[in-house]
Amino acid sequence: MADKKKYRAVISGLLVVTLLFLLANGHPCDRQCETNRQPMTCEYDFVIEWYATMSKACFDCPNVTLDCQREHCIAADGFPRAGTFVNRKLPGPSIVVCHNDKIIVRVSNKLDNSEGTTIHWHGIHQRDSQWMDGVPMITQCPIPSHTSFTYRFTANPSGTHWWHSHSGFHRSDGVAGPLVVRTSQEDNPHSALYDVDSDNFTVMIGDWLHQTTIEKFVQHHHSNGSNKGENILINGRGDFSLYASNLTDYSTLLTRFNVESGLRYRFRIISNAAVFCPFQLTIDQHSMLVISTDGNDVEPFNVTSLVIHGGERFDFVLTANQNPLSYWFRVQGLADCKLSSQKAILRYVSSLDELKPTSFPLPFNDTVELNSLNKAKSENVHYVTALRSVVKLDEKMRDSPDEVHFIGLDFKKVDNPRFHHPNYYPIKGISRGNHLYSPQLNNITFLSPPSPVLTQFADANSSLMCDSSTGENVPDTEVPTTKEFL
Ligand SMILES: *[C@@H]1O[C@H](CO)[C@@H](O)[C@H](O)[C@H]1NC(C)=O
Ligand SMILES: *[C@@H]1O[C@H](CO)[C@@H](O)[C@H](O)[C@H]1NC(C)=O
Ligand SMILES: *[C@@H]1O[C@H](CO)[C@@H](O)[C@H](O)[C@H]1NC(C)=O
Ligand SMILES: *[C@@H]1O[C@H](CO)[C@@H](O)[C@H](O)[C@H]1NC(C)=O
Ligand SMILES: *[C@@H]1O[C@H](CO)[C@@H](O)[C@H](O)[C@H]1NC(C)=O
Ligand SMILES: *[C@@H]1O[C@H](CO)[C@@H](O)[C@H](O)[C@H]1NC(C)=O
Ligand SMILES: *[C@@H]1O[C@H](CO)[C@@H](O)[C@H](O)[C@H]1NC(C)=O
Ligand SMILES: *[C@@H]1O[C@H](CO)[C@@H](O)[C@H](O)[C@H]1NC(C)=O
Repeated sequence: MADKKKYRAVISGLLVVTLLFLLANGHPCDRQCETNRQPMTCEYDFVIEWYATMSKACFDCPNVTLDCQREHCIAADGFPRAGTFVNRKLPGPSIVVCHNDKIIVRVSNKLDNSEGTTIHWHGIHQRDSQWMDGVPMITQCPIPSHTSFTYRFTANPSGTHWWHSHSGFHRSDGVAGPLVVRTSQEDNPHSALYDVDSDNFTVMIGDWLHQTTIEKFVQHHHSNGSNKGENILINGRGDFSLYASNLTDYSTLLTRFNVESGLRYRFRIISNAAVFCPFQLTIDQHSMLVISTDGNDVEPFNVTSLVIHGGERFDFVLTANQNPLSYWFRVQGLADCKLSSQKAILRYVSSLDELKPTSFPLPFNDTVELNSLNKAKSENVHYVTALRSVVKLDEKMRDSPDEVHFIGLDFKKVDNPRFHHPNYYPIKGISRGNHLYSPQLNNITFLSPPSPVLTQFADANSSLMCDSSTGENVPDTEVPTTKEFL
């Protein structure tokens, strides 16, 4: 009897431990990856809705710090606005799996305004599952509101990736999140360089508006409005000092990365920038050992600053070897975001210092910067432009290619009928502040086809297809038909 009781206690203890493990790790697929284990099937439910930052779910946030951590509280930078969000989270839920797992995501579109949506899995190759790539009117019809669609694909290749809506302005209004594909120790050339690889250190950085993107862009497209954001968020959080009153301390909103002295952490940085908004990242008194970019492992390279553009990813190792205090994790916007900056906090857990860090950046003369934006050679600052892949170049890639294509990309001063009218308000006949240049590839402006060309090519009027060399239609025969894909 006593033994049975003990046994029960052990079982319930195990259950509690398992539950705690699941709670701490979030999802059973977020696990240590091992070479000889069967891949897992990893399921997620995404509900996309119009929702609000600083909603009633936030109670007394930011005055009461814990209120900002409540379920469904999207505090952002303390500024209330409407947005499109997945599962009432910003960033959206993380998908963390092992290489070759099967990912299944049920997407329910509950957008009140009847907009369609799709989710793109940026970095995933979708070999043999092209129709799961989530590009509206190219690989699928958008998911109509009040319906759902299930994405199923294999987690390949490994690396730090990113999911986001590819429809309308949903991505900059909140529909984006991390997608991390880990490998076993054997398949990871850098496994000996770090101790901790946890979703706690995945960092999504994005520009952030204080109104819906459609409001801002309609003003930008058709009047003289700016399309630039008001702020930058780090993992959906930030301070907005211009807005902050002195009675409220908005630093309670800042994202904190808690580290233990002596350990080495793999940080995975993802840029969700919407406009031309490169981010310059530095961490006071710490260098970053860059080991991977865009899902490709590189020879480790030590930098003190790195610049990341929209859609890019950089993974680095941070060694917690400084005085156990708190340090600023700084993001400076460049180009269209040069007026914005943001901070998070790198906090040593042994530190009693719960307050704002008082740290300073490394002196400028000691800077080694990766991927700099338009910088010339300088005596004091070392700009790094090349990383070396750890993968040996495939012999096949040395062969001369079968075809060479040059693609010219520019903003052109043309009367794009979407923004200008050749008689009423031509681009050459109105004040400069109202000019809108059109982005073009080889002098061609993208126009969404009326049906998804991957699966229903024949339904799109072939007069819509053209290329720059001929200015003529591309004959249907050059594009595989539906049958070849299904
Ligand atoms: C990640 O964060 C959770 C919640 O704060 C914490 O319980 C867990 O220990 C952290 N894990 C690591 C590896 O830091
Ligand atoms: C846009 O045009 C309006 C009306 O002409 C003017 O008042 C405003 O200052 C302009 N804004 C900018 C940013 O140029
Ligand atoms: C906050 O206080 C500073 C210094 O007292 C003052 O200059 C600033 O205008 C105040 N800001 C707001 C938003 O009240
Ligand atoms: C925070 O508290 C101050 C002082 O009580 C108050 O004036 C302010 O409105 C509060 N801020 C929010 C966002 O509730
Ligand atoms: C990276 O830089 C830090 C700080 O200068 C140094 O302590 C560390 O040894 C360097 N690591 C490598 C691999 O170069
Ligand atoms: C950078 O400047 C600081 C302070 O002037 C000096 O102590 C340091 O040695 C300099 N570093 C280099 C690499 O020149
Ligand atoms: C694009 O148009 C310009 C003239 O506006 C022309 O000089 C250029 O060759 C064209 N480029 C291509 C790739 O057709
Ligand atoms: C395709 O487009 C051309 C040119 O705009 C038009 O003349 C033709 O009627 C269209 N065909 C169909 C089937 O819609």
